[in-house]
Amino acid sequence: MALNYSEKVMEHFSNPRNVGEIENADGVGEAGNPRCGDIMKIYLKVKDNVIEDVKFKTFGCASAIASSSMATELIKGKTIDEAWNLTNSAVAEALDGLPPIKMHCSVLAEEAIHTALNDYRAKHGMEVIPMKHYDHDHDHAAM
Ligand code: FES
Repeated sequence: MALNYSEKVMEHFSNPRNVGEIENADGVGEAGNPRCGDIMKIYLKVKDNVIEDVKFKTFGCASAIASSSMATELIKGKTIDEAWNLTNSAVAEALDGLPPIKMHCSVLAEEAIHTALNDYRAKHGMEVIPMKHYDHDHDHAAM
Protein backbone atom coordinates (compact mmCIF):
# COMPACT_ATOMS: atom_id res chain seq x y z
CA MET A 1 0.00 0.00 0.00
CA ALA A 2 1.48 3.34 -1.03
CA LEU A 3 1.19 5.94 1.69
CA ASN A 4 0.30 9.48 0.92
CA TYR A 5 3.19 11.59 2.18
CA SER A 6 3.12 15.37 2.07
CA GLU A 7 5.73 17.14 -0.03
CA LYS A 8 7.31 18.44 3.17
CA VAL A 9 7.76 14.90 4.53
CA MET A 10 9.37 13.82 1.26
CA GLU A 11 11.57 16.92 1.22
CA HIS A 12 12.79 16.48 4.82
CA PHE A 13 13.32 12.77 4.21
CA SER A 14 15.39 13.37 1.06
CA ASN A 15 17.28 16.30 2.52
CA PRO A 16 17.23 15.98 6.31
CA ARG A 17 18.51 18.91 8.39
CA ASN A 18 20.83 18.55 11.39
CA VAL A 19 21.97 14.99 10.77
CA GLY A 20 24.98 13.89 12.79
CA GLU A 21 26.41 13.93 16.26
CA ILE A 22 27.67 16.67 18.58
CA GLU A 23 30.89 15.87 20.36
CA ASN A 24 30.74 16.76 24.04
CA ALA A 25 27.01 17.36 23.78
CA ASP A 26 25.37 18.94 26.82
CA GLY A 27 22.46 16.56 26.60
CA VAL A 28 21.91 13.29 24.75
CA GLY A 29 18.68 11.37 24.50
CA GLU A 30 17.51 8.26 22.76
CA ALA A 31 14.09 6.85 22.06
CA GLY A 32 13.07 3.62 20.41
CA ASN A 33 9.90 2.02 19.33
CA PRO A 34 9.80 -1.62 20.42
CA ARG A 35 7.27 -2.54 17.72
CA CYS A 36 9.07 -1.34 14.60
CA GLY A 37 12.57 -1.31 16.11
CA ASP A 38 13.32 2.24 14.97
CA ILE A 39 15.69 4.30 17.09
CA MET A 40 16.29 8.05 17.30
CA LYS A 41 19.13 9.79 19.08
CA ILE A 42 19.26 13.54 19.78
CA TYR A 43 22.33 15.59 20.75
CA LEU A 44 21.97 19.07 22.27
CA LYS A 45 24.39 21.95 22.67
CA VAL A 46 22.93 24.32 25.25
CA LYS A 47 24.12 27.73 26.37
CA ASP A 48 22.30 29.86 28.94
CA ASN A 49 19.34 27.48 28.69
CA VAL A 50 19.05 28.09 24.94
CA ILE A 51 19.53 25.31 22.41
CA GLU A 52 22.41 26.54 20.31
CA ASP A 53 22.74 23.43 18.24
CA VAL A 54 21.03 20.11 17.84
CA LYS A 55 21.82 17.04 15.77
CA PHE A 56 20.16 13.70 15.31
CA LYS A 57 20.84 10.18 14.21
CA THR A 58 17.81 8.13 13.30
CA PHE A 59 17.76 4.51 12.27
CA GLY A 60 14.21 4.45 11.10
CA CYS A 61 11.54 4.93 8.51
CA ALA A 62 11.02 7.94 6.26
CA SER A 63 8.51 9.51 8.66
CA ALA A 64 10.89 9.12 11.59
CA ILE A 65 13.70 10.80 9.65
CA ALA A 66 11.44 13.63 8.46
CA SER A 67 10.13 14.04 12.04
CA SER A 68 13.67 14.24 13.44
CA SER A 69 14.66 16.78 10.82
CA MET A 70 11.62 18.97 11.45
CA ALA A 71 11.75 18.63 15.25
CA THR A 72 15.42 19.65 15.38
CA GLU A 73 14.65 22.67 13.18
CA LEU A 74 11.80 23.63 15.50
CA ILE A 75 13.83 23.51 18.73
CA LYS A 76 17.02 25.15 17.47
CA GLY A 77 17.38 28.59 19.07
CA LYS A 78 14.58 27.88 21.55
CA THR A 79 14.87 27.75 25.33
CA ILE A 80 14.92 24.36 26.99
CA ASP A 81 11.40 25.04 28.33
CA GLU A 82 10.06 25.91 24.89
CA ALA A 83 11.72 22.81 23.48
CA TRP A 84 10.10 20.65 26.15
CA ASN A 85 6.68 21.88 25.03
CA LEU A 86 7.13 20.72 21.45
CA THR A 87 4.61 17.95 20.93
CA ASN A 88 4.66 15.21 18.35
CA SER A 89 1.46 16.58 16.84
CA ALA A 90 3.12 19.98 16.35
CA VAL A 91 5.97 18.20 14.54
CA ALA A 92 3.49 16.31 12.34
CA GLU A 93 1.57 19.52 11.66
CA ALA A 94 4.74 21.34 10.64
CA LEU A 95 5.30 18.52 8.14
CA ASP A 96 1.79 19.16 6.72
CA GLY A 97 0.64 15.96 8.37
CA LEU A 98 1.71 12.34 8.56
CA PRO A 99 -0.37 9.37 7.44
CA PRO A 100 -2.35 8.16 10.49
CA ILE A 101 -0.40 4.89 10.76
CA LYS A 102 2.83 6.94 10.81
CA MET A 103 1.88 9.32 13.61
CA HIS A 104 3.82 7.19 16.09
CA CYS A 105 7.03 8.03 14.22
CA SER A 106 6.70 11.65 15.35
CA VAL A 107 6.34 10.43 18.94
CA LEU A 108 9.94 9.22 18.80
CA ALA A 109 11.07 12.82 18.18
CA GLU A 110 9.17 14.17 21.18
CA GLU A 111 10.44 11.40 23.43
CA ALA A 112 14.07 11.63 22.29
CA ILE A 113 14.04 15.41 22.81
CA HIS A 114 12.56 15.00 26.30
CA THR A 115 15.20 12.42 27.19
CA ALA A 116 17.98 14.70 25.93
CA LEU A 117 16.57 17.69 27.82
CA ASN A 118 16.37 15.67 31.03
CA ASP A 119 19.93 14.48 30.50
CA TYR A 120 20.96 18.12 30.26
CA ARG A 121 18.92 19.04 33.34
CA ALA A 122 20.35 16.18 35.40
CA LYS A 123 23.91 17.13 34.45
CA HIS A 124 23.31 20.76 35.39
CA GLY A 125 21.72 20.24 38.77
CA MET A 126 18.22 21.03 37.54
CA GLU A 127 15.16 19.07 38.45
CA VAL A 128 14.39 16.28 36.02
CA ILE A 129 10.88 16.54 34.55
CA PRO A 130 8.77 13.38 34.85
CA MET A 131 8.52 11.73 31.45
CA LYS A 132 5.00 11.20 30.24
CA HIS A 133 3.69 7.95 28.89
CA TYR A 134 4.40 8.00 25.18
CA ASP A 135 1.80 6.23 23.13
CA HIS A 136 3.99 4.05 20.93
CA ASP A 137 1.14 1.73 20.15
CA HIS A 138 -1.03 4.48 18.74
CA ASP A 139 -2.15 3.54 15.23
CA HIS A 140 0.28 0.65 15.10
CA ALA A 141 -2.51 -1.83 14.50
CA ALA A 142 -2.35 -1.24 10.76
CA MET A 143 1.41 -1.65 10.50
FE1 FES B 1 8.77 3.04 13.38
FE2 FES B 1 8.28 4.99 11.71
S1 FES B 1 9.30 5.08 13.60
S2 FES B 1 7.75 2.89 11.49
